[in-house]
Amino acid sequence: MSTTFTLDTSTSRANPTPAPMKRLTVPAIQRRKVEGRTNEPLVMLTAYTARQAQLLDPHCDMLLVGDSLGQVIYGLPSTLPVTLDMMIAHGAAVVRGSYHSVVLVDMPFGSYEASPAHAFTSASRVMAETGCAAVKLEGGQAMAETISFLSRRGIPVMAHVGLTPQAVNALGGYGARGKSQEEHARIMDDAKAVANAGAFAVVLEGVMEDLAIEITDMLDIPVIGIGASAHCDGQVLVSEDMLGMFERTPRFVKVYENIAGTISGAAERYAAEVRNRSFPTQDQVYRPKK
Ligand code: KIV
Repeated sequence: MSTTFTLDTSTSRANPTPAPMKRLTVPAIQRRKVEGRTNEPLVMLTAYTARQAQLLDPHCDMLLVGDSLGQVIYGLPSTLPVTLDMMIAHGAAVVRGSYHSVVLVDMPFGSYEASPAHAFTSASRVMAETGCAAVKLEGGQAMAETISFLSRRGIPVMAHVGLTPQAVNALGGYGARGKSQEEHARIMDDAKAVANAGAFAVVLEGVMEDLAIEITDMLDIPVIGIGASAHCDGQVLVSEDMLGMFERTPRFVKVYENIAGTISGAAERYAAEVRNRSFPTQDQVYRPKK
């Protein structure tokens, strides 16, 4: 990547900054699927903070400010208590921390289901107050009218079908979906309905692999899998899951790092040094200049 320089006026130093890069757009994401195929799979990760976005952004096509932040950041038992204000605060931080990826913000439970007009009121706040490019909402056939209403009014929507965590009480848990023929057919119908309603892409979560392959081949819009299939047009994971922040992760997560071990190891060493007074050293204290 070529570099340009910006002047930091407080230090008079010229800091190298990445060359300004054009942000990807929703139509560019949609165009990656040509005649039912995506030659270069779409890369999506969740991000909740500005610094996390800075680190992930160069490697991703899309950053999702997922309502999974309820559990990951706030320690809530599910995504249900997440509010629109929480999503907006984190969405704005992620937009500020990124310059390349399309940023999508999840519509939290209770902010869009009542009616298309209610969804528009909530989604337009998200778009205006965060600067994100699109919203994501859960639900298939039941949300088709809402997806159409938002899309026709300039709000790009990514749909989310299969295992939909906001419906955990109705589904009875987070187990894989589409095992029975009846459920297989219902999820196929959900996927068709959201695509016909104008969703620009769809997240397909926690479904049997054969169903994921069928849906990816059936739809013209990109299908982003999570616990679905490598055949999908792209993949998404919760970043903290793949970074190894938690002891327990769903079966579909591949853990690429052990960030929990790194953090607790550093805290352990710091605590020991504070207790035996070996921190701070001369390097970390202020003294009059001689
Ligand atoms: O909230 C979230 O992080 C999500 C992804 C898991 C797709 O919806």
